[in-house]
Amino acid sequence: MDFAQLPAPPKVSAWLDMDALDHNIKLVNQKTQAVKLRIATKSIRSMDVLRYIQKHTPHFIGLMSYSAAESVYLLQNGFDNILCAYPTVDRASVAEALKYNQQGATMIWMADRIEHLHLLNEIGKQQEQSVEVCLDINMSMPLPKLYFGTKRSALMRKSDVKTIIEQAGSLSHITITAMMGYEAQIAGLAEHLPGKSLITPAIKLLKNSSKRQVSRRRASMVHWINKQGYPLKLVNGGGSGSMDFTSSQPEVTEITVGSAYYKPAYFDYMDSMQQFKPAAGFVLPVTRQPEKRVITCQGGGFIASGAIGTDKVPVVHYPPGLSLLPDEGFGEVQTPFAVDEAVIKQGNMPTIGEAVWCRHAKAGELAEHFNELVCYRGNKPLIVEGAAQVMTTYRGEGLCFH
Ligand SMILES: Cc1ncc(COP(=O)(O)O)c(C=O)c1O
Repeated sequence: MDFAQLPAPPKVSAWLDMDALDHNIKLVNQKTQAVKLRIATKSIRSMDVLRYIQKHTPHFIGLMSYSAAESVYLLQNGFDNILCAYPTVDRASVAEALKYNQQGATMIWMADRIEHLHLLNEIGKQQEQSVEVCLDINMSMPLPKLYFGTKRSALMRKSDVKTIIEQAGSLSHITITAMMGYEAQIAGLAEHLPGKSLITPAIKLLKNSSKRQVSRRRASMVHWINKQGYPLKLVNGGGSGSMDFTSSQPEVTEITVGSAYYKPAYFDYMDSMQQFKPAAGFVLPVTRQPEKRVITCQGGGFIASGAIGTDKVPVVHYPPGLSLLPDEGFGEVQTPFAVDEAVIKQGNMPTIGEAVWCRHAKAGELAEHFNELVCYRGNKPLIVEGAAQVMTTYRGEGLCFH
C-alpha cells in the first residue's frame, strides 16, 4: 500500500491492507501445502478475518484457539475442529464446549500434566462423554548453560510421556488422539533483534541445531506414542516463522499459522518472514507541534507482550524520518516524534491533521486495542455498498479472552 496516497483518518484507528493480506494468504498457502493448515486465532482475534482467511485457504483444517471460553465462542459461531493450544482449568467452558461435541463438532484439549487429564476426565464423566486430548510435547533444546525454547510443557522425554500415559490408564473419559510439538524457538524467535546484532550468529546457529534436534525428537515421539496404542490422528507443529521447515517434516500432519497474515513488526527481524508484507497496523493523527522538530500524535500505548525490549515497541511505517523520544515512547494517549532535519529541509514536515501510520510488534494484540480493522484496497479505503468496510475484532464484539 502506498501510504502517501491515503487520506488521513481523523481518529486513531486500526488498518488492514487487504492487498497485503491476500499476498500473505497466498504465500502461506504455497509454503504449507504439504500439510493441513490450522489458524492461530490468538494472532488474528477477529471472526471476520478468520472467515476471510478460511475462505481463501484450500487446505484449512481448523483453528488453534487460546482459551476455553474462546473455543466455546468459536464453536457457537459455526467453526469446527478446534484445538485449544493451552491447558485450561476453566471447567464451565470445557463443559459448555462438550455440548458441541455431542452435535458432532471436534474439540481437542491440550494437556501435559496428570492434573489436566484428571480435570478433563471429570468433566467428561459429568457429561457422559469422552474428551479428546492432545499431548503437548516440549520441543525446547536445553543446553548446559542455556535453555533454548519456552517453558510450557512438562513433557520433554519419552519417560515423561510414559509416566503420564500410565497415570492416565484408569481415566475412563479421556481419549488421547493428538500430539503437538511446537518448536517456538524456531518459529517465533527473530535473528535480527534491534540493537542486538552481536548475538545474531549465535541465534542462527542455535536455530539450525534445534531444527536437527526437533526433526529427530518429534518424529521419534510420534512413532513411539503410536506404538503404545494411542494412534495419533493429528500431529501439530510450527508457526509463522517455521513454515518451510515444519511443512517439510514427514511426521507433521498440520501446521499452525497466525502472525504471518498480519506480519507485525517483530517478524521484520526474522529471516524466514522477508517475503511477507505488513498487512495490519494502527494510525495516529498528528494533533500538536510542541517544537520546530517535534510533532505529537493523538493515541499511543500498544506495547507488545513478552520480555521487555525495543523489539516490543511499535514501529513507524509511514512517513519516514520520525523517531520516538526515548523519555516518552508510545505514550498513554499521546505520542511525540522527533522529525529528521532532512525531512524538514525537503518541506515534508508532517502537519496537524496528517497521519502517522504504525505497526504493532505482535499480531493479535493489535486487535485488543480496536473495535474494528478498517479495510484498505488499491491505496484507498475499501467501500462496499456505500460504507467503509471493516473487520470487527473480538473486542468490537464486546469480547475479551485470555
Ligand atoms: C502452540 C502454538 N502454536 C503455534 C504458534 C504460532 O503462532 P504464530 O503463527 O502466530 O506465530 C504459537 C504462537 O505462540 C503457539 O503458541
